[in-house]
Amino acid sequence: MIHARLAPLCGVTDYVFREICFEQGCEQAYTEMISAMGYLCAPGQRAVQELMIRGKNEKKLIVQLFGRDPDTVAEAAARMESLERYDGIDLNMGCPAHKIAPSGEGCGLMRMPENAEEMMRKTVRAVSLPVSIKIRLGWDTAHINAPEIAKRAQDAGIREITVHGRTREQQYSGEANWEEIARVAECVEIPVYGNGDIWDGETARTRSEAYGLAGVVIGRGAMGNPWIFREILDINQGRSPRPVTTEERFRMIEDHYTRMLAWKPAHIAVREMRKHIGWYLHGLRGASRARAEINRAETPEAVREILERIQVELS
Ligand SMILES: Cc1cc2nc3c(=O)[nH]c(=O)nc-3n(C[C@H](O)[C@H](O)[C@H](O)COP(=O)(O)O)c2cc1C
Repeated sequence: MIHARLAPLCGVTDYVFREICFEQGCEQAYTEMISAMGYLCAPGQRAVQELMIRGKNEKKLIVQLFGRDPDTVAEAAARMESLERYDGIDLNMGCPAHKIAPSGEGCGLMRMPENAEEMMRKTVRAVSLPVSIKIRLGWDTAHINAPEIAKRAQDAGIREITVHGRTREQQYSGEANWEEIARVAECVEIPVYGNGDIWDGETARTRSEAYGLAGVVIGRGAMGNPWIFREILDINQGRSPRPVTTEERFRMIEDHYTRMLAWKPAHIAVREMRKHIGWYLHGLRGASRARAEINRAETPEAVREILERIQVELS
């Protein structure tokens, strides 16, 4: 049995996309990362509120927080819990971004294990929801300390760990190292989920079987491809994965578009859908020309017209 979750991807995994993934068989998802400090300072801010939405069809949603100061993160976690909206709290210890990690947030926490441990302890104490962490292997190849962080996490009362099999230095380059992820799992009793470079259901199966992990967390492999969760469902139910038809792709784009338009003003939905449409069309004949045209279109009607034409050309 493969347990598959949707990774947090800021700018991608809003509630609309998460709902789509749940409908395809995803078991659990995370909000995009939310700044603990930003939330405490301006909880009503629209951008923050949008990140905090839980869709009606979200089966299991974890809110992900990032920050550097243990008390701030613990307080934000307690406030999130009081909303009674989420199934758990996740602490981001993996973000490599230049505005985040060097200042000790995200993956920067892995360079300060004592601070990371204090944050975990204080957050666990502040809430009754389960608290999990998402980490990388370490800062760079000379400082692989995911096993140490995992042991500290377990001692602090953390309930689950997701490990992205890269260092901060690697960002998203090279390949995720699943042997190192497995080494983390060997060090602790709590469930460890592996993350990195799962592009299809079959890889999800081989990775979760070969490395004895609790499950897998899928990020980029779900972009434009929420059917990856259907593939996994099929494998779990002993069927060969159903291939995704071109018709299904276009139907999904329309469905996704309709939901975005119901949520956001048209000009914003048009902008935000561009990237999704680009991913949905990936690999289809004429995709790059279509993408260029769609990126120039300013209204949903214009986008739909282009899509209809491409679909006719492809059939
Ligand atoms: C566009 C983008 C946004 C991301 N945002 C987050 C985030 O908000 N929180 C987080 O923990 N990881 C974030 N990540 C990292 C992913 O969750 C994941 O660990 C990474 O992409 C590796 O998994 P994959 O190979 O399945 O994509 C992000 C990655 C990408 C590409």
